[in-house]
Amino acid sequence: RVCKIAVLSGDGIGPEISRVAVDLLKVAGDIEGVNFDFTDALIGGAAIDATGSPLPEETLQICRTSDAVLLAAIGGYKWDALPPEQRPEKGLLNLRAGLGTFANLRPAVVLSHLADASTLKREVVDGVDIMIVRELVGGIYFGQPRGFRTNEQGQKVGFNTMVYSEPEIERIAHVAFQLAQKRQKRLCSVEKSNVLEVSMLWKEVVTRIGGQYPDVELSHMYVDNAAMQIIRNPRFFDTIVTGNIFGDILSDTASMLTGSLGMLPSASTSDDGPGIFEPVHGSAPDIGGQDIANPLAMVLSAAMMCRYGLNMPQVAEHLEKAVTSALDQGYRTADLFSEGTQKVGCSEMGRVLLKC
Ligand code: NAI
Ligand code: MG
Repeated sequence: RVCKIAVLSGDGIGPEISRVAVDLLKVAGDIEGVNFDFTDALIGGAAIDATGSPLPEETLQICRTSDAVLLAAIGGYKWDALPPEQRPEKGLLNLRAGLGTFANLRPAVVLSHLADASTLKREVVDGVDIMIVRELVGGIYFGQPRGFRTNEQGQKVGFNTMVYSEPEIERIAHVAFQLAQKRQKRLCSVEKSNVLEVSMLWKEVVTRIGGQYPDVELSHMYVDNAAMQIIRNPRFFDTIVTGNIFGDILSDTASMLTGSLGMLPSASTSDDGPGIFEPVHGSAPDIGGQDIANPLAMVLSAAMMCRYGLNMPQVAEHLEKAVTSALDQGYRTADLFSEGTQKVGCSEMGRVLLKC
């Protein structure tokens, strides 16, 4: 089987960490009988420098005709003074819009080796394995009307609209139920239906779609309580489905259970086209080019690509096992280093992973 992968390395530590992931994918693919066909393409600051655009048409075309997009990170000091429309970050937003990726998957898994890195007590976070499914292209971030106006008292008012249609809720619910089926079969839908009409509709539609997934246990939670429970009793959660703004906040909250930004992967998927698989962290311009970045979030993003984008769970498992095995052996990049562990750089971590 041949798999076409668009590799968007971007800026800062991007090229360093994507090299590690690509090398590992090649080897894992060989073992599992998969032939990965990688095509590099420009995005972000690197694309601005080369073409003037943060997302050249050619890049979007390469992504559209690939089976999946593996993205590292974009951005850096060099482009910070540009106006918003021309900045590297715009490349990322345009890519998501161009591929119609409406579902954002953010796992928060606490690996027992790193439980001490969490800001919470070990006995609370040990064994945590949460998957947050966030609706990415609707809700209050995109709802109309929005803007500023002057009210009857002559005061300036800013306003946004939280809006979801039934089809928008249905499609994200299907993604979440199907994911829950592959996990512990427990789905918690998070909203604020005690206050918001849009959330009443959310709850009603998710409940109705749940009828098609009788094997999944569905629960409902208000977002304020969910934020509390993620900190108080995170093992309660298996899969969570929620709207755009609640998912933004809850996924950042849950990510802190795991302790390190350098360990967090993500996926953004659509119904039919290629998904985008990328670490949660940015381009870390402060450490770019020094070969000290942690490549594990990137490798785990490649694993998500294999599992959820390409339906190759064996290759995904191979990558995930390499990560836990490298940690088992005590290897740590500088961001995770503690006494008694072995400090390695980015490319050296790559060589360790290849041997695992
Ligand atoms: P950042 O995630 O790049 O860095 C935050 C801190 O974490 C830095 O001290 C950095 O050195 C460290 N860090 C991040 N990833 C690491 C890794 N893999 N290994 C070791 N240390 C790591 O966030 P920041 O500093 O707010 O943004 C820097 C640039 O990245 C900006 O231009 C921003 O716009 C962009 N950015 C891009 C994102 C993306 O491509 N999806 C997401 C977030 C920010
Ligand atoms: Mg956020």
